[in-house]
Amino acid sequence: MFHHLRQDINSIIERDPAARNAWEVLTCYPGLQAIVMHRWASWCWRHGLKWPGRFIAYLARIVTGIEIHPGATIGRRVFIDHGFGVVIGETAEVGDDCTIYQGVTLGGTSLHAGSKRHPTLERGVIVGAGAKVLGGFTVGEYAKVGSNAVLLKPVPAGATAVGNPAHIVRKDAAAPLGATAHLFAAYGVTPNGDDPLSKALHGLINHAVKQEEQIERILAVLKAAGLPCQGVAECDKLNSDQLNKLVE
Ligand SMILES: CC(C)(COP(=O)(O)OP(=O)(O)OC[C@H]1O[C@@H](n2cnc3c(N)ncnc32)[C@H](O)[C@@H]1OP(=O)(O)O)[C@@H](O)C(=O)NCCC(=O)NCCS
Repeated sequence: MFHHLRQDINSIIERDPAARNAWEVLTCYPGLQAIVMHRWASWCWRHGLKWPGRFIAYLARIVTGIEIHPGATIGRRVFIDHGFGVVIGETAEVGDDCTIYQGVTLGGTSLHAGSKRHPTLERGVIVGAGAKVLGGFTVGEYAKVGSNAVLLKPVPAGATAVGNPAHIVRKDAAAPLGATAHLFAAYGVTPNGDDPLSKALHGLINHAVKQEEQIERILAVLKAAGLPCQGVAECDKLNSDQLNKLVE
C-alpha cells in the first residue's frame, strides 16, 4: 500500500509544476486523497461489501469533491489534478499514468445496468478540464482530450480530440510507441511550444523542405530541357513531420 502511495506522490510531483514536496502532496491534493479512498471503496465493492463501498465513495466525494464509483477500475499513478467536480462512473476504466483535470465526467449514455456504459482510458491519456467522455468506448493510449470537449466516439492512440462534439485535430499513432512516449506534457500542451531553440529548429526544418522542393523543380526543368543530370545523386526525402515532432 505504501509503495503505491509513494509512486502516486512521486508521479504528482513529476507532473504538477506547482507541487513542492511529498508532505504538501499528501495533505493538500484532493486527487490523491480520492484515489486512496477509492482503493478502500473498491476493495469493499469487490468483496461483496456494496454499501460500505458506496459509503466510502460518498465520504470521499464530501471531502474531495471527486466522485468515483467503487466499481470503477483505476490504474497506477493516475493523477486527478485539482479534481473538483470529477465524476467517474461504475464501469469506467482508467489506465496507468492517466491525468484527469477538474470537472471531467467519465460517464454513460445508456441505462442498461450490467453493461459497459462508461469509457476506458488506456495508459497515459490526458483529459482536459471540464471534458465529458460519454459512452463505453476506448480512448487509446497517450491520447489527449481537450478541455471542455464532449467526446462521444473512440480516439486512436496518440491522437488529440477537441470540441463539442469532439473531433480529432491531431492523429499521431506513432507517438505512443516512440522513445518519448512516457514524457508527460503538463496540461496536455505540446512541450517547448514557446522555446526559441525549438522554434529555430522548426524554422530550419521547414526551410530545408522548401529548398528540397526547389531543387526538385530545378532538376525537373533541367531534365525537360534535355540537360544531363546523371551526376546528381538521388537521396532520401526529408521527413519533416517526423523531425518536427522530434523537436517538439
Ligand atoms: C487539446 C490540447 C491537449 C491540445 O494541445 P496541443 O497538442 O498543444 O494542440 P494545439 O494547442 O496546437 O491545438 C491544436 C488545435 O486544437 C484547437 N484546440 C486546442 N484545445 C482546444 C479545446 N480545448 N477546445 C477546442 N479547440 C481546441 C486549437 O485551437 C488548434 O486548432 P487550429 O489547428 O485550428 O489552430 C490542449 O489545448 C488542452 O485542452 N489541454 C488541457 C488543458 C487543461 O485542461 N488544463 C487545466 C489546467 S488546470
